[in-house]
Amino acid sequence: MAVREILKMGDPRLLRVAQPVTEFDSDALHLLITDMLDTMLAANGAGLAAPQIGVDLQLVIFGTNQPNPRYPDAPPVPYTVLLNPVITPLPGNDGVPLQEEDWEGCLSVPGLRGVVPRFARIRYTGFDQYGDPIDRTVEGFHARVVQHECDHLIGILYPMRVRDFSRFGYTDVLFPDLDPAQDD
Ligand code: NI
Repeated sequence: MAVREILKMGDPRLLRVAQPVTEFDSDALHLLITDMLDTMLAANGAGLAAPQIGVDLQLVIFGTNQPNPRYPDAPPVPYTVLLNPVITPLPGNDGVPLQEEDWEGCLSVPGLRGVVPRFARIRYTGFDQYGDPIDRTVEGFHARVVQHECDHLIGILYPMRVRDFSRFGYTDVLFPDLDPAQDD
């Protein structure tokens, strides 16, 4: 088990546009993903992007197949390893992609939460660690997690997407009932 240091907001490595993965199913890639999973689970994260541990690659992991103590009301998201992702917002009934707002946190922005608009329904494509294609249409929390993690691959942290800073603050003040031991 290798829990890696998670970079915090202010580190310029979080602002890079990540490089595509060109070699799949390699020992180095599997080792990196194992470290990312260990790091995400140790921090009770909903997801983790490679740039958050200083690795300049288009690689994210998310989901745990179980309810997340940091987001106890969120439905479980299947554990997924996603490389070189592409996100397409999907239209609602009126033909326009619907956005919805909800609270987010980030392991690189510890102790804070903010309300972030995200597309409600998306299609995402990419590859798993073996180079097999992934193609899913998802909505709600699953769609939100994917958009949050993939933002890390283009140097965007969620506070950059907050529109209403009256709904941005410290987790222990906003959500005093959340167990602080399980928060970031
Ligand atoms: Ni994050």
